[in-house]
Amino acid sequence: MTLPTSIDDVQTLLSRQDYVCGRPLATVAFLALTLGRPLFLEGEAGTGKTEIAKALAAALGRRLIRLQCYEGLDAASAVYEWNFAAQMVALRRAEATGEAPPVLFSDDFLIARPLLEAMRPQPGGAPVLLIDEIDRTDAPFEAFLLEALSDFQITIPETGPVTAPEPPIVILTSNRTREVHDALKRRCLYHWVDYPSHDREMEILAARAPEASERLSREVVAFVQALRTEDLFKKPGVAETIDWAKCLLALDMIDLSPEVIADTLGALLKYQDDIQKLQGSEAKRILDEVRAELA
Ligand SMILES: Nc1ncnc2c1ncn2[C@@H]1O[C@H](COP(=O)(O)OP(=O)(O)OP(=O)(O)O)[C@@H](O)[C@H]1O
Ligand SMILES: [Mg+2]
Repeated sequence: MTLPTSIDDVQTLLSRQDYVCGRPLATVAFLALTLGRPLFLEGEAGTGKTEIAKALAAALGRRLIRLQCYEGLDAASAVYEWNFAAQMVALRRAEATGEAPPVLFSDDFLIARPLLEAMRPQPGGAPVLLIDEIDRTDAPFEAFLLEALSDFQITIPETGPVTAPEPPIVILTSNRTREVHDALKRRCLYHWVDYPSHDREMEILAARAPEASERLSREVVAFVQALRTEDLFKKPGVAETIDWAKCLLALDMIDLSPEVIADTLGALLKYQDDIQKLQGSEAKRILDEVRAELA
């Protein structure tokens, strides 16, 4: 599928994948696609950073290739590895049967990891390369990525360079557990993904939990939005809003009550200190405020 030709087009394509994309994010996504620049998304947890890469790949009919970052991630896990075990087996077999020895450093024995895979031609066009949670890797890997992303070429010493026929669509995400280096950011278009507004979160809930009634959705969204203004260790993201609505539906709840909130807090808050804070009169206080506002 061809790339979107306008910002509206981006929003429409994504909404068909049940992804609700605000104008600012749609704009930077459109520009990233049009200019062929990587898109760097930083923001709170559970606000749709990873999901937009999945939605975009599905919308464009492109393959999604994901590089999940973690501490200690190295080139062997990110780019390619030689399959030593298979090389040994092939060698032994050749010895035993008297056949010509295999070409050990050839594609047959190459294990392509996400970055190499993303440089290879794909049916349907250049893939979407999701480099997820880049803040979890270390500086040397970041420097290495910078190079790979600047020329979309990877050199395998034994077989030569692999160059992407068409640059992949690159999306990087970060939770900002540390600052990512300026040099890498400079190559990208940047967008901070914040918690959605009340109305946008209603739209997201309608897309992701359509079974929830308007009334329940309004209460859930208003309560979560109020919760985000409280002093919590870990504020609930959009993922938690959706989870919570689904939990309430599974319990056949048609509206909120302090009791049901207390019983289902585990869907919203994942730290005992936060849960404790909300137990007792606190949940009722917030609920009363929310109700007064909705009325
Ligand atoms: N704008 C949105 N439209 C539709 N669904 C959304 C949106 N934002 C978040 N979601 C929902 O929230 C879930 C979590 O989103 P996602 O995994 O992309 O968060 P994230 O920003 O990558 O979080 P983390 O930083 O924890 O990885 C998604 O699976 C999706 O169901
Ligand atoms: Mg994510």
